[in-house]
Amino acid sequence: MKRVLVLGSGGREHAIGWAFAQSGFQVDFYPGNPGTARCGRNVKIESWETLKEYDLVIPGSEEFLAMGVADGRPNVFGPDKKGALLEASKSFAKSFMIKYGVPTARYETVTNEESLLKALENFTPPFVLKLDGLAQGKGVVIAQEKRFAYDIGMKMLRGEFVKGVGGKLVIEEFLEGKELSAISIIQGRRFALLPFTRDYKRAFTGNLGPNTGGMGSYGPVQIDDKLKAKVEDIFARTLSGLEQEGISYRGFLYAGLMLVDDDPYVLEFNVRLGDPETEAIVYMAPELFVENVLKAFNGEPFDEYFPNQYAVDVVIASEGYPESPKKGQEIHVQPGGFYFFAGVSESNGKFYVSGGRVLHAMGRGSTLETAREEAYRNVSRVRFEGMFFRTDIASL
Ligand code: AMP
Ligand code: GLY
Repeated sequence: MKRVLVLGSGGREHAIGWAFAQSGFQVDFYPGNPGTARCGRNVKIESWETLKEYDLVIPGSEEFLAMGVADGRPNVFGPDKKGALLEASKSFAKSFMIKYGVPTARYETVTNEESLLKALENFTPPFVLKLDGLAQGKGVVIAQEKRFAYDIGMKMLRGEFVKGVGGKLVIEEFLEGKELSAISIIQGRRFALLPFTRDYKRAFTGNLGPNTGGMGSYGPVQIDDKLKAKVEDIFARTLSGLEQEGISYRGFLYAGLMLVDDDPYVLEFNVRLGDPETEAIVYMAPELFVENVLKAFNGEPFDEYFPNQYAVDVVIASEGYPESPKKGQEIHVQPGGFYFFAGVSESNGKFYVSGGRVLHAMGRGSTLETAREEAYRNVSRVRFEGMFFRTDIASL
């Protein structure tokens, strides 16, 4: 096998493709970015028919899977449309979890003003409201006051909160604890955990500011055997549930967990790798990652693996992110650092800001400390107007 196609254009896709390129594969990206063009080729895919030409296709983001890119295509490593519902519909995911005994927050589904008002009576603040459809990470609101929760809920129902997504939402109990990202490689009933990671969702240092797609990550996060057994039980129940629902799942499954007094609860499922978790997972052990993905893809036995170093990803973002990031500034990078590219465009050999999350400054080392130091050294090599980053990645 030689030709791999990665679908997407962010840091996650750069990281996946970079790992395969390191292992000797020819890697194409659609649509890709200026970073991916440096470890493979950015190509135009005009019809899904073209996918046939590849030995392996890895969809980076959920939209491709929810659209059914894996349906009937054995060379696409990802779940079919039905499996993708675990991410594409919060209400499907919640009822699935309850049915198969996967621990999750108590919830109610809301479809009109009446059920919204009733649900708000059945929970205490803070209220957690989640849009039912895919909303590119913008579909979750935590509201302190009932009045505000009602206003947001009505906007969600009317499809005004995230344009075009509406009609249904989920209200659930607020869980307090520490978050953990647990991602497995899946092939039918077999799963293997990838190294645990932690994602920093708030925009500013100290966990302040709005929720973002993620401002940094690190791993492996060390957890004890008891907790690990509980996380494995979550995946085992989930896979057994998928089988009972007649869904044959392969690819990646991401469980966003909240640890409440050492008990994990699933906040969300994603049917793909996380961003920025993948950057850290891949960077700590690129060959082991590729080896295990290939085994699962080929239907061979695959297992958990244990990287011998830590990796840290510090996201460099542009002023205004996540609401309305400033774009178009030239990016200056002193040589010597290592980055996965995200919101970057290129023109006449120069790099410009083209999105909210711009670069992922990477570091790795035999201790978390040295990995973090390297990542922040790489941050200091970058300069553009309005750049910002969190100073507490991997230390909070
Ligand atoms: P989700 O997309 O469902 O993971 O939600 C995005 C973020 O909102 C999560 O990473 C948490 O930080 C927060 N969140 C979601 N659900 C809850 C909950 N039930 N309790 C507390 N925080 C939550
Ligand atoms: N880092 C969260 C996500 O990929 O959804």
